[in-house]
Amino acid sequence: MTKNKTGEKLPVEKLTDLEAGAELKDLAVEISAHDKVYYQDDAPVLSDGEYDALRARNQALEAAFPHLIREDSPSKRVGVAPTSGFSKVAHARPMLSLGNVFSEEELADFLGGIRRFLKELTDDPSIPLEMVAEPKIDGLSISLRYEKGKFVSAATRGDGSVGEDVTANLKTFKELPFELTGNVSEVPEIVEVRGEVYLSKSDFAELNRRQEAAGEKVFANPRNAAAGSLRQLDVSITASRPLKMFAYAWGELSEPVGDTQWAFFEQLKAWGFQVNDLTQICGDLDELMAAYNNISEKRAGLDYDIDGVVYKVNRLDWQERLGFVSRAPRWAVAHKFPAEKAQTVINEIDIQVGRTGSLTPVAKLEPVTVGGVVVSNATLHNEDEIARKDIRVGDSVVIQRAGDVIPQVVEVVLDKRPKGSKAFNYPGKCPICGSDAVRDEDEAVRRCTGGAICPAQVVERFKHFVSRGAFDIEGFGSKHVEAFFDEGLITTPADIFRLKTHETDLKTREGWGEKSVDNLLAAIEERRTVPLERFIYALGIRQIGQANARLLAKQYISIGALRQAMKDASVIGSDALSDLNNIDGVGPSVVGDLITYFKEDKNKELLDDFEKELAIKDFEALDDSSSPVVGKTIVFTGTLETVTRGEAKARAEQLGAKVAGSVSKKTDYVVAGPGAGSKAKKAGELGVTILSEEEWLALIGEG
Ligand code: IVH
Repeated sequence: MTKNKTGEKLPVEKLTDLEAGAELKDLAVEISAHDKVYYQDDAPVLSDGEYDALRARNQALEAAFPHLIREDSPSKRVGVAPTSGFSKVAHARPMLSLGNVFSEEELADFLGGIRRFLKELTDDPSIPLEMVAEPKIDGLSISLRYEKGKFVSAATRGDGSVGEDVTANLKTFKELPFELTGNVSEVPEIVEVRGEVYLSKSDFAELNRRQEAAGEKVFANPRNAAAGSLRQLDVSITASRPLKMFAYAWGELSEPVGDTQWAFFEQLKAWGFQVNDLTQICGDLDELMAAYNNISEKRAGLDYDIDGVVYKVNRLDWQERLGFVSRAPRWAVAHKFPAEKAQTVINEIDIQVGRTGSLTPVAKLEPVTVGGVVVSNATLHNEDEIARKDIRVGDSVVIQRAGDVIPQVVEVVLDKRPKGSKAFNYPGKCPICGSDAVRDEDEAVRRCTGGAICPAQVVERFKHFVSRGAFDIEGFGSKHVEAFFDEGLITTPADIFRLKTHETDLKTREGWGEKSVDNLLAAIEERRTVPLERFIYALGIRQIGQANARLLAKQYISIGALRQAMKDASVIGSDALSDLNNIDGVGPSVVGDLITYFKEDKNKELLDDFEKELAIKDFEALDDSSSPVVGKTIVFTGTLETVTRGEAKARAEQLGAKVAGSVSKKTDYVVAGPGAGSKAKKAGELGVTILSEEEWLALIGEG
């Protein structure tokens, strides 16, 4: 700092340009360092007064020397300098999503499924199935970890398994308990509380007013604003936004908290969390529907956005037994509110080409606001849909959007159809590469036959490859994919892992600094080791989404075994084919797509190429590896006495076993209840161990 001999700061007006410039530089460094220790490390070294004096001096210098205002000036940011990004954290328990129902019938089916799963409820229909109903908050989910009653970390949901560390951001929340209130000796050693971070509607409106006045970006809706406010590397921005949270679930708990969902909510409140006060217990379908109607009537008057009602089984022992399917619990479901609608005009119909060559018609709309979001595109699904609804360019249409779903055209307003309009002529050729676009008899989709020569397909495959659920390469967005592909830097997916050979070229590209290239190449290197399930998903095989990719990884464990099995399975009647067919959840058409994919020479080359570049990690079951049935193949047959077949199967899978529908040489155990027929007989012939239900329970330590 520019000081006189007695150590006092020189008045601003006495400074030369050179001195002022040097002092501004020092202040930028100094203030940013104090911001970091204050916001991120929670260990300020200056008093508030001393800190304010630094900022005031900076401001005075900038007012007197406006031409010297620095790019990194503290006045341009309030708080800590952006770091390289959020660090990733693996969730101790995955953060799951919820299945949806949209009607009373679907809700009744959902409840019926629970009753069928739990034997005592199947056997005695008079046993009530108590549920808790609560609003579904339209925010973003967060997991907070407490150790010995003290807040230690916070993570966003991310992909459900790995989220982003937003501990520093959460520390700025005003209402959050940093210590769980109540008797510390009663607080479990580890408590993870999950909930939804949101911005109230009034705070959202106020924030947008401020943003607009400052010439900054305005947010489309409270949820986007909440996400944008939470995921800030500069935590002082988070601090300046009044984010709130409703708590509704848990992750890791070192000991159970209560016997019911309701008791858990009571405990959350006692610990100092906000639990939604519209939460209620319901005894049957009618009461659930009454809760839904009641919450839905209150929706408009609430100061936070909700997009449905969540129902959860109240008894926690039942929740535990019901477990999960794919990424959603069997014991909870979201009853979504109907979609919001608006009217607008179709200016054009665009045909987009996807990664599997599928042509998707998209309506380019006159922009319109639906439920607080400006919509200018709507999907038209496929050519049949266009023909069925007779959708034409120039038509006025009703569109709707529900949550994150892409807006859809519900109907054409025929009264407003312009005179002389013509039916839409669906193209028979790919609009990008000009190849024939054909339609299989049993498919609704027309596909470009260009394959690898169609740039649109190739680019879409690249985009999928680097996307979040696949290789998740940070900073490798659609724009990079398109540019690198256009410039010939990547022509086949494994080229991504050879991009470093173009390092010098990349660094001389316009708009690219040394640092951004280094970051991108480092992000790519980080992904050179990839779990098998992600790799399978990244290949973009038709019908192989994340859930199926995981099932395959779980079944075959290594890439070598998977490739061999797919090769063997191409022989009709082979054991490999029957094993593949036996994977629960993989139907015949998926099997067909898999075999076709692994049979094609160009895909074999692609896989060989990948294997040279990557370390593909064998599948690791998350489950208790001490379980004696990990990796074993089990077949259940006959009637079980203590649990339903569904529950037995789910439990076996939870313990790391594979459950198959038919007996083969590869079966390890057949669990046979009364009435077991041909499967038990076949097991006997093949010498497969047959267990009674009692023996099975003893084997898994639950007898
Ligand atoms: S329970 C294992 N309760 O909805 C079940 N989720 O669409 C965990 N959400 O990822 C979720 N309000 O982010 C639950 N009252 C509520 C909720 C809620 C909003 C979100 C949550 C979840 C998403 C699923």
